[in-house]
Amino acid sequence: MSLVLLEGVTKHVLLPDDTRLDILRGVDLDVAAGDHVSIVGRSGSGKSTLLNILGMLDRPSSGSVSFRERPVGRMGQSRLDRLRGRNVGFVFQQFNLLAGRSALENVAMPLSYASGRAFWSRHRVAAEMLDRVGLSHRLESPPEQLSGGEQQRVAIARALVRRPALILADEPTGALDVETGGAVMTLLDEIASEVDAALVTITHDVHVAARARRHYRLEAGILSPVELDLAFRETALGSIAEAPAGVWGAEARAALAGAEQTAAPGTRVGAAAANAGPDAAAAAP
Ligand SMILES: Nc1ncnc2c1ncn2[C@@H]1O[C@H](COP(=O)(O)OP(=O)(O)OP(=O)(O)O)[C@@H](O)[C@H]1O
Ligand SMILES: [Mg+2]
Repeated sequence: MSLVLLEGVTKHVLLPDDTRLDILRGVDLDVAAGDHVSIVGRSGSGKSTLLNILGMLDRPSSGSVSFRERPVGRMGQSRLDRLRGRNVGFVFQQFNLLAGRSALENVAMPLSYASGRAFWSRHRVAAEMLDRVGLSHRLESPPEQLSGGEQQRVAIARALVRRPALILADEPTGALDVETGGAVMTLLDEIASEVDAALVTITHDVHVAARARRHYRLEAGILSPVELDLAFRETALGSIAEAPAGVWGAEARAALAGAEQTAAPGTRVGAAAANAGPDAAAAAP
């Protein structure tokens, strides 16, 4: 069954000089439970915009978004906020952690809107998740006292703490060294397979993309399926794009082969609140 389905999704915005910028130009994407999809694309190609629409944080200009086969276009804002709060975990490109709040409070935040045991055990569950990203010794530190990579790991713990059905990760390893990046991707894969969640990852890193089962490229607002090595020849960062294609192709294939053996089954606006649950999302500017 489809978990989230985009059909003919477009997104445009009006720029301050009244010209229209077409960001997405008709995107179709079907993500099932347990699926792992990677999306690559040049800077400004619309990847974060697409992720925000997939996570129901932003609405398309036209086309439809369905979650578990129900169109979300006609849902009221509070119902949509509840649906997102319960089911979607975002790892934002800019982390969007709350300053002045400890790592523990940041990670426990999505559970503040849960009920019953999930609510009462939120600090213990948040501490366990921070332990899994290697930060059990920094529970009380606010984001401003953490390194970029540590903040990224807090953001990942926060996205996973509610065991969402859909995990959306925007450059989840962008601030991490290779080893830590590998470890957090393994954690993302593990949590996703524990609850048969779908994982959609935006990345410039071929090793991260190689962990996904299906690969897409976004180019000028059009999303197309691609072979992994082709995706990187044109869209990855300069150093990768300029490397001989064969080198990356071989490495990507090796990484992909490894990933297959261990494969898991299966906005800017309001960003900080998106993981927090319905009330916080509704209160976001
Ligand atoms: N609300 C907005 N108002 C004006 N322009 C916007 C808005 N949202 C996105 N854009 C523009 O749309 C384009 C796509 O933005 P988006 O953030 O989705 O790109 P991206 O692929 O995630 O880029 P990057 O790899 O640099 O993160 C960019 O040119 C951006 O400036
Ligand atoms: Mg982006």
